[in-house]
Parts: sequence; C-alpha cells; structure tokens
Amino acid sequence: MTLRQPRDTDGYALNQLVERCKPLDTNSVYCNLLQCSDFADTAIAAIAANGELVGFISGYRPPARPDTLFVWQVAVDDRMRGQGLALKMLLALTERVMANGVQYMETTITPGNEASEALFKRAFARLNSDYQTRVLFSRSNHFNGQHDDEVLYRAGPFSPSAKA
Ligand SMILES: CC(C)(COP(=O)(O)OP(=O)(O)OC[C@H]1O[C@@H](n2cnc3c(N)ncnc32)[C@H](O)[C@@H]1OP(=O)(O)O)[C@@H](O)C(=O)NCCC(=O)NCCS
Repeated sequence: MTLRQPRDTDGYALNQLVERCKPLDTNSVYCNLLQCSDFADTAIAAIAANGELVGFISGYRPPARPDTLFVWQVAVDDRMRGQGLALKMLLALTERVMANGVQYMETTITPGNEASEALFKRAFARLNSDYQTRVLFSRSNHFNGQHDDEVLYRAGPFSPSAKA
C-alpha cells in the first residue's frame, strides 16, 4: 500500500471509488479531476500493490480560513476497511498540510455515520486536540428536507509537535 499525493490521472478512479462508498454523495468526474489536480495539495490517495486506487481523502483550504484543512470526503474501498487505512491517510495528510501552515481541521458528518464519527474522534485524540460541533447545513434550511443535517466538527489549533 502506498500513500501519496493524488495525480490528475486518479480522477476517474476516484469517481468510481466514491460511487462504491455509500453513503457518500457522488460528484462529477470533472469535480474529481479538480480534486486530484488543483486541490491535490490537500488530498491523499492510497494505492494498492496492483495499482488500484483503494482509498482517498479530498479536502481544501477555505479561502477565508487558509489555516484550516476542510476534509470533504473520506473513502476506503469495502475490501480494505477495518485495518486503520482511513486513520493512516488522515494523519498523513494532516502532517503534510501542517508543514504548510494548517493548524485546524474541519469536516462535516451526518449524525449516525458512526464510522466517520469514530474516525475523526480518533484522529483528533491522536492530534491531542479538542473539537467543537455545530450544525452547518440543516435538513430544513439548506436541503429542503431531502438530506440529513451536516454537523461541522472543528479541531485545533494543533501543536507543532503533534505528529501522526
Ligand atoms: C468511514 C471509512 C472511511 C472508515 O475507513 P476504515 O479504513 O475502515 O477506518 P479505520 O480502520 O481507519 O478506522 C478508524 C476508526 O473508525 C472506527 N470505525 C471504522 N469503521 C467503523 C464502523 N463501521 N462503525 C463504527 N466504527 C468504525 C474504527 O474502529 C476506528 O476507531 P478506533 O480507532 O476508535 O477503533 C469507511 O468505512 C468508508 O469509506 N465508509 C463509506 C464512506 C463514508 O462514510 N465516509 C466518511 C464520511 S466522509
């Protein structure tokens, strides 16, 4: 297993990986290509020995908060789950962006996504960081009743000595 910064040629495989990873929302291939090119600095890919893309974290630095890594999606292929791959990717990505000035991490989680909650709480603990939560996008105000609330988790500031 290799963890590396994505390349634009990973975009199509990323689109297929996300499609296999319910309940993630799928995006266009074009969006995935941008995540693997313009936003590659804030993303990480896991490549199996046979070259297959089996894990991915997409993210970006919000223009108004460049000290923050906003984690957009985390996807691990079904066959590779339960082995610590998501945590490994998240900590490796955090270490990389911290070297470039990031001190905070944000993500949103749909209540009831236990795997996602466990993953981020474990990562925040490994980074010795507290976190705050609040509803960022609500079912009624933002999704017209068609999607559950998205709860924002914000952790940091990370101490420079915090390591993956
Ligand atoms: C969420 C997901 C990325 C986890 O990947 P993974 O490689 O299996 O996760 P890890 O093995 O690194 O586990 C990290 C933590 O989450 C916990 N966890 C993983 N899957 C879990 C599950 N289904 N239920 C409860 N906890 C779970 C692990 O126990 C671990 O916590 P711990 O260290 O306290 O024991 C993967 O299940 C996935 O791709 N799911 C579908 C897409 C999704 O929901 N993504 C997250 C939203 S962005």
